[in-house]
Amino acid sequence: MFVDIHSHVIWGVDDGAKTKEETQRMLQEAVADGIGAIVCTPHVTPGVYEFPEDVFLQHFDAAKQYIRQEGLALKLYKGAEILYTDPTSRLLREGRVLSMAETKHAMIEFSPTDTNDHIFDALQKVAGSGFIPIIAHMERYPAIGKISQVKEMKSRFRAMVQINARTLTRKQPLLRRGFFDGIFKEGLVDFIATDTHSMEGRGTCMTEGIKAARVKYGDRVIDRILKNAEELIQD
Ligand SMILES: [Fe+2]
Repeated sequence: MFVDIHSHVIWGVDDGAKTKEETQRMLQEAVADGIGAIVCTPHVTPGVYEFPEDVFLQHFDAAKQYIRQEGLALKLYKGAEILYTDPTSRLLREGRVLSMAETKHAMIEFSPTDTNDHIFDALQKVAGSGFIPIIAHMERYPAIGKISQVKEMKSRFRAMVQINARTLTRKQPLLRRGFFDGIFKEGLVDFIATDTHSMEGRGTCMTEGIKAARVKYGDRVIDRILKNAEELIQD
């Protein structure tokens, strides 16, 4: 069973699920897609938008109750996809932003226009506040396009790399293909996750993505990636 560490399945807190019913359908869909645990990661933008944490916690509990009631083999954990802002590292240190499954891992998102310097500076600050940064859907950032950059982020900040399962089901643009294949083949990818937002358009496709990745990069690489997510929730 897969552990999905990136999901907007909890309704009413971001641009993910819109209603309780949609959350419930998405939970059923996750189980059907072979997922056995989800870290629920709504968008959080520290210091810019007030995150409705009390609503999130209420809806999270309601989702867990639904799982129990339906007898689904699915576990839920709390997390956040944090769009990096200046106060992020301080608020993480103060425990005012959700980390991943109550561990010392924090999922950090960047804007596609962010520069290499901005990203490195952010990772340094997150690492400096005692957290291991997990870079959300790293394939989306044009500023990161060299294997040497990824190696440096890992060696300096212990940064971890998450790629979306859906990306694996698609052909990469020609210019990015070498980089994309390279990070897998060199064992630099740490997580594959769904980043699911809804039933339509951005639904889950973990099985399909993992299958495509196994064909391209081999079982050894993919088994390691799947194990990382299991270890994260056991941390
Ligand atoms: Fe996301």
